[in-house]
Amino acid sequence: MNISIQRGDILDIPCDLLVVNLFKGVKDPDGATGAVNEAFGGELAKLIRQDKFEGNLGERLLFPTFGKLNAKKVCVLGLGDRKKFNADTVRKIGGHIVKAAKDAKTKNVVTILHGAGIAGLDAQTSAQSLGEGLLLGAYEFREHFGTATKSKKHFEITEVLIAETERGKLKPAQKGLDRAHVLAQGACAARDLVNASPRHMLPNDLVEAARACSVRGSGITCKVFDREKMERMGMGAALAVAEGSEHPPFCVHLIYKPKRKAKSVVAVVGKGVTFDSGGLSLKSPDSMTNMKIDMGGAASVIGLFRILPELKLPVEVHGVFIAVENMPSGASYRPGDVVRAMNGMTIEILNTDAEGRVTLADALSYAVKRVKPDTMIDLATLTGAVITALGDDYTGYMSNNRPLAQKISKAAREAGELFWELPLVPQYDEAMKSKVADMNNTGGRSAGVIKGGLFLQRFVDGTPWAHLDIAGPVFCEKETRPDVPYGGTGVGVRTLVRYLESLN
Ligand code: BES
Ligand code: MN
Ligand code: ZN
Repeated sequence: MNISIQRGDILDIPCDLLVVNLFKGVKDPDGATGAVNEAFGGELAKLIRQDKFEGNLGERLLFPTFGKLNAKKVCVLGLGDRKKFNADTVRKIGGHIVKAAKDAKTKNVVTILHGAGIAGLDAQTSAQSLGEGLLLGAYEFREHFGTATKSKKHFEITEVLIAETERGKLKPAQKGLDRAHVLAQGACAARDLVNASPRHMLPNDLVEAARACSVRGSGITCKVFDREKMERMGMGAALAVAEGSEHPPFCVHLIYKPKRKAKSVVAVVGKGVTFDSGGLSLKSPDSMTNMKIDMGGAASVIGLFRILPELKLPVEVHGVFIAVENMPSGASYRPGDVVRAMNGMTIEILNTDAEGRVTLADALSYAVKRVKPDTMIDLATLTGAVITALGDDYTGYMSNNRPLAQKISKAAREAGELFWELPLVPQYDEAMKSKVADMNNTGGRSAGVIKGGLFLQRFVDGTPWAHLDIAGPVFCEKETRPDVPYGGTGVGVRTLVRYLESLN
């Protein structure tokens, strides 16, 4: 899909589908929508008066033009309540345009810079939101279809042209579109990795995806540690998780160094369990079916690194993940085992299915010791409990640092990703007590999300840190937003970018 912006009047440009918009409650359309209404002799306003179209967000009114316009069809998209309008509305509008064009089987779309000038939105922000919505909404994962399916004609939107009459808006809008392309590329790279079937995304495949980030001139280097090197570094916890799998584990360290002097050093750590069967504490078939998503944290780290060279931020960024598969076998680690992490702490394994924190114990210890970052953020599909608490749409996050928590909240809001903070209350830390080791790996039934965070906190050594539990939003089962189609979502990538940008 090619997205471009040009100076002109929407009514002048031939296309398959012309998309205009309307706020809820508006009876007399003006602007672009008004021009369409006039071309049809006021028929559009008549329909609105007859309550055939209310203008709810995403609501569509589609009609053929019978040659009255240069466009073959017109779609009026509802913008919803004017009071609720913001940049995220425009992102959703982008997604709705894609859906409307797909349903109408129209390849060439002409539309406007939705929302520029409304509610304080400037042309750049509105173009960026629109572009993100279009690109994220148009994403499809078709990799695993066979030739029979692939050879069938597959519909794709080829062209979205944004027509803008004000010359002054063109430049900032183009800048916004360029940024949208970069951000969507990062998120969609993460989506691809999550969507791959787990036999195609074994630990070494995840490593290769990381390696692919360090092309010449990117400013990115990629260090990979194999099992032997992990042993030498003392990563006994992550290595124990890997024992049940035929596929060896790896520890990956990506480094992005900006050309200018870095203002800050940030470590981003991802959970990289390529498949989580639960191990000997085996999951039920139903709760295992989608456990290819358990490397979603690492996928978002890789997605971020794909685009860091283009973002040119004055921040040194380190990406760390340990790629492992959690499998049951005669060689598996066991409930009752005591394992030792890189920072010297010992963990009693009560449940081999709480493997994420066990692998992150080493990934976080590594980052603290080798990187010594100013700030550390981990992304992990850590608990089912976060889904119980917040549902599928929310990332539950915790932090040991107020300013960091606030920056993350703001970044997520700007990115249109739903984040909710949970308290890292010290009194629940006692649940991690063990009679035979420094801690156990479950903490029992209640407050599972928080206990996951408290467990990880033991490995950050006081570094300002935030933990993002993305188990819910990492994968979209039921579409609730037009810019998030079924499958991996790339959650976190666009929030992380905005967070890194806020570090001035
Ligand atoms: N990968 C799972 C968490 C998960 C569950 C992610 C559902 C996405 C959807 C994690 O490794 C896990 O199994 N956690 C256990 C922890 C428990 C044993 C303390 C859980 O949530 O049940
Ligand atoms: Mn598990
Ligand atoms: Zn897991």
